[in-house]
Parts: sequence; C-alpha cells; structure tokens
Amino acid sequence: MKESITEVINTEPNNSEEELARVRKCLEIAKELVSERSQQAGRNLSYHVTTFGCQMNARDSEKLSGILEECGFIREDDELCADFVIYNTCTVRDNANQKFFGHLGSIGAIKKKRPEMMIGVCGCLSQEESAREKILKSYPFVDLVFGTHNVFDFARLLVMVLTREAQNGKRATVTEIWDDTDMIVEDIPIRRNFKFKSGVNIMFGCNNFCSYCIVPYVRGRERSRSPEDIISEITKLADDGVKEVMLLGQNVNSYGRGLDTKITFASLLRKVAAIDGIERIRFMTSHPKDLSDELIDVIADTPKICRHIHLPLQSGSSRILESMNRHYTKEQYIDLALKIRERVPGIAITTDIIIGYPGETDADIDDTIDVIEKVAFDGAFTFIYSKRTGTPAASMPDQVPEDVVKKNFDRVLAKVQEISTKQAAKIEGRIMDVLVEDINRQDPSLVTGRLSNNLNVHFPGDESLIGKIVDVKLTQCKGFYYIGERIQ
Ligand code: 5AD
Ligand code: SF4
Repeated sequence: MKESITEVINTEPNNSEEELARVRKCLEIAKELVSERSQQAGRNLSYHVTTFGCQMNARDSEKLSGILEECGFIREDDELCADFVIYNTCTVRDNANQKFFGHLGSIGAIKKKRPEMMIGVCGCLSQEESAREKILKSYPFVDLVFGTHNVFDFARLLVMVLTREAQNGKRATVTEIWDDTDMIVEDIPIRRNFKFKSGVNIMFGCNNFCSYCIVPYVRGRERSRSPEDIISEITKLADDGVKEVMLLGQNVNSYGRGLDTKITFASLLRKVAAIDGIERIRFMTSHPKDLSDELIDVIADTPKICRHIHLPLQSGSSRILESMNRHYTKEQYIDLALKIRERVPGIAITTDIIIGYPGETDADIDDTIDVIEKVAFDGAFTFIYSKRTGTPAASMPDQVPEDVVKKNFDRVLAKVQEISTKQAAKIEGRIMDVLVEDINRQDPSLVTGRLSNNLNVHFPGDESLIGKIVDVKLTQCKGFYYIGERIQ
C-alpha cells in the first residue's frame, strides 16, 4: 500500500488528462486515509477554509472545499475547532499580508493546544518567495504550503500531508509551489457556497503587468478555458438550480486569446445567455483598454446580463496612467464610460482607484476627481498604493509621503461617496427585480437581495425567498443600499 501511494504521488503527468488521472487516484487514496483517521478519532474529521482577497480566491476555496468533502472531511464553521484549516491568501496589497501573518500567529497558539490540527496555506501569498520563506522559518507549525497553480492537485498534497512521517518528533512542512502552468484541469469536485449563484472561471492569470501590480507574478500567464468546458459547466450549474453566474478573469475582455477556437468575450456571453435556467450573468474584471463595441452591444441587447460593469480606472491622470502601463488616457476612459452609459441605460459603473502611486501630485488627484465627476461612478473601491517588491513601481523614485497620501485619499473618498450616493438615489420609487440572497444579518424579519445594478435591497421576507427573483419597490434609498417592499 505504502509503496503504491509513493508511486502515485511521484508520477509526472505530461498533460491535463494524465493530471486528472493522477488527481482521481489521489482522491481515492485520500478517502481511505481520511476514513482511517476518522475511525481512530471516533468521529468525522472536519475542515475549514478561510478566504482572503478576491472572487478568484473565493472560487478556488470552493474547489478546495469540494476536494476535502470528496475525501470525507465535513465542514466546520468554527475555524478554531476544525481538524484541517486552510488559509487561501491574498497579497495584492501589503496590509493583506500583515493581516494574514497576524492571524497565522494566533492560530499557532491554538495548534499548540491541539497538535493534531493540520494547517495549510495557499493562494497568492504562497507564490511569493519571501513570504513563503517567512512561513517556513517563522511558522514551522504549518503543515502544507501550496500556490495558485496547483489547487486542482490538492488531493495529492493532502495525501502527502497525511502520510508524511515525523522525524525527531517533528513533521516537515509539505511545500509545493509551481512557478506557472499551462494546464487547466477540468472536472474537479467543487462545493459551492451558494445554491443559486456561482462564480465560473473563464480564464486564469494576467498578462498586463500594470506597473504597481503583483498579480501577473503570482497568478502566472493568461490562459482561457475552452468555451465548450465553460458552457458545459454553466449548463450543469443551471440544472443544479443556479440562476446567476459571475464569469471570472483578471481581464475578461481579452478572453479567447490563444485558444484554437476563435472566440471573443462578447460571443461567449451570447452563448452563456442562451443557457436555459441562467437568469443573470455578471462578469469581473473588465480592463478598459480591451473593452470592445461588440461587448457593449451584447450587454445592451441581452437583458440577462446584469446592468453593472466594474471598470477599474486606477487613476484619472493620463501621465500616471502611462506610468502605470494601463494603455488608455483620461479622455479615452471618460469617452468609453459615457458610451457605455449612453448605449446601456441604467447601467451602474463601478471602479477601482489607487491613491499615492509614485510621483502622484495634487494636479493628478484633480484629474482623478474630474473623472469621478464626469463618469459619475455608482461605486468605487479606493486603495492606498502599496509597494509590492518586484514590481516596476516599487523601485520608482518619488514615493509619495504617507501624510500626503492620507489627505488625497480622504479627498477622493469624499468625492466618490458624494457622487455614488446621488447615483443610487436616482432609482428611488422604482419597482425592480431582485435576486434574494440571504436573511438580513441585523434584522431577521428582512431578507437581503441584489438588484441587477449590484445595489443591495433589504425588505420584509423569509427564508423561502432565498434564491428567488422577485419584484421589489425601492421605497427608501439609504445611500449605498435600499429599503424596499415586495410587490406580489
Ligand atoms: N496597491 C494598491 N492597490 C492595488 N491594486 C492592485 N495592486 C495594488 C497596489 N500595489 C488594486 C487595483 C486593482 C485592485 C484589485 O487592487 O486597483 O484593480
Ligand atoms: Fe493587476 Fe493590471 Fe492584471 Fe489587473 S490587469 S490583475 S491590475 S496587472
């Protein structure tokens, strides 16, 4: 038995099919190992996945959960009580790193009391060499470190953790990081967080190398999934009761590049919209430089596509945009956003803005404010620039002093809030369709749902409405959300 496990985990697949065959064998082995451990413990082993960061990570966490459940682990909501805890990390900004390391330190204290607890770290932070070294050196109690490219291989890593022997009473951390991969392995078990909505990866990685951004270094080169695989996954999701899909990629507008089949993102959207049962389609994220007229037309013609586009601006200054390697100017961005507003009435445009990029002056901030006013963003995530080692911006001169950044940040945030509150108020009194997502956390007599334009609405209702699309009158705008009442 032992020997054959070693053989399986050491086979070297040459393509996605061989990889999937290895994954399947590892799943079988892991099931047996988990079952043995559960018998010894007299109860089922449990798991908890803690996710930091973006929708991509959220989707990866569903894959990890799916594999763990397939192997016999049961979900445990309390991280501190689980037998296997996985941290799916983010490294896009340094404060995410700090937050994670603080958290890892406190879980180390728990593991001292429960030494049989297993801890895994994966995601973008693991792909960074310096962060990885810090984990191995300062947090040796971590059992497993893996990255963004081998999530689908998690069953094999699980087998390695469960079969490793102690040396001098200590078990070494299992570490497996791939620098990149051109493989996309399909048909891995997934445990969805919501019955009625799901993220769907349409592509992985990023080729844009915006000068401040670490993502291309930790998520690798851009690879699109085949349209057949995407459509087949969404058809199965629809059969399983999913009504809303969110198509995920770092730059969905470049979907299809490098595939044998010639296909654009706009035509993929048409195919997805044709799937019975799918009632709402969202996508994330659009890079302004690649957003085509064809895409705007498809959105305009297809009611199933939600009236919301997230279109990161990053800066309103053409000079800063050039240094950021964004490939558009202030004027081009404004023209594009206004064209979208004109062709798709009622669409919400949200954005990301970075404040404090090297060399940013008051005049650059004025430009950013000007774009916020002209486009009238419905929402914006504002981020303080974070220096990421290895990116071109990290070694640029003129890093902006902290007090100046803080002042500019407050200025931009105030403008964003002023404009987006006005935008939200525009639809007060209307009746709109809402996908009900949850019971309201503060007031259980209310449910919380989402409008096509991505605003939240809270209105009287009960659990039976979750996952349904209902008509709601938007009675009161509260700035960033609505209070409403259901119209039968
Ligand atoms: N500092 C601050 N914000 C960043 N983002 C990406 N890299 C950085 C950085 N180094 C922001 C961008 C991107 C969002 C996901 O994160 O605005 O759109
Ligand atoms: Fe980062 Fe730019 Fe790629 Fe977005 S498009 S992930 S900001 S490099």
